[in-house]
Amino acid sequence: MRIDVLTIFPAYLDALDLSLVGKARRDGLLDLRVHDLRDWTTDRHRTVDDTPFGGGAGMVMRPDIWGKALDDVLATESLPAPAGATPAGGLDHPASAAAGGLDHPAPRRVLLVPTPSGDRFTQAVAEDLAGADQLVLACGRYEGIDARVAEHYGASPSVEVREVSLGDYVLNGGEVAALVVVEAVARLLPGVLGNPDSLVEESHGAAGLLEYPVYTKPPVWAGLEVPEVLTSGHHGKVARWRRDQALVRTARRRPDMVAALDPHQLDRADRVV
Ligand code: ADE
Repeated sequence: MRIDVLTIFPAYLDALDLSLVGKARRDGLLDLRVHDLRDWTTDRHRTVDDTPFGGGAGMVMRPDIWGKALDDVLATESLPAPAGATPAGGLDHPASAAAGGLDHPAPRRVLLVPTPSGDRFTQAVAEDLAGADQLVLACGRYEGIDARVAEHYGASPSVEVREVSLGDYVLNGGEVAALVVVEAVARLLPGVLGNPDSLVEESHGAAGLLEYPVYTKPPVWAGLEVPEVLTSGHHGKVARWRRDQALVRTARRRPDMVAALDPHQLDRADRVV
């Protein structure tokens, strides 16, 4: 997967050299490029913002600067085509034509704009984005990016635009949200996690529950003992205990998730505690 991050603070993204995402980049599993938006300015002060039409506090990021930057990163050399590829939408699908060839499906390019006024970013969104060929993250600052940018690229047949919010709070800009999105997506890419089983039981997975509590050595710490069942060696009892813990934890912390459970996600031994 190719990921481009556009920001006026590229150093925020330095953390993406670390840990599993850094390793995925070095292993060639993720082609991640961070760009300084000011490289597309032409004035001496490298200006990216201006005052809002209609008045009000703060500054708004200019669409012309964003447009030049986004046109460049979205038009970059062709992305790796999936094996055995045929045109996605038929021969005359505009996205196939935009890709410049009939032998490969058009690459799926997603322009992601982190904003507190976006749709909620969830594990399901991360899973969907992990299937894209290119993600372009546009990190806004100040009062945000001129709304015509999302409108313009949203009208393009070769780009999907998604405005996403991490949650109901306001950050100073999109950079921290971009770090979150890149990490949440990159760990889902094939080969990135050392042990893909780690994806199976985690919170916000297929079970629709928060994860159960976990313990390791020493068996007694600060006077607290590891729950006895976990050292019993009885796999069935361990599995039942973990499921009960997940249900109780989810019911207490996230009743909305319990209410959203599908009957097929419940097991006959599940009970209301
Ligand atoms: N930018 C500022 N606040 C944000 C939030 N809550 N989510 C995503 N991007 C943001």
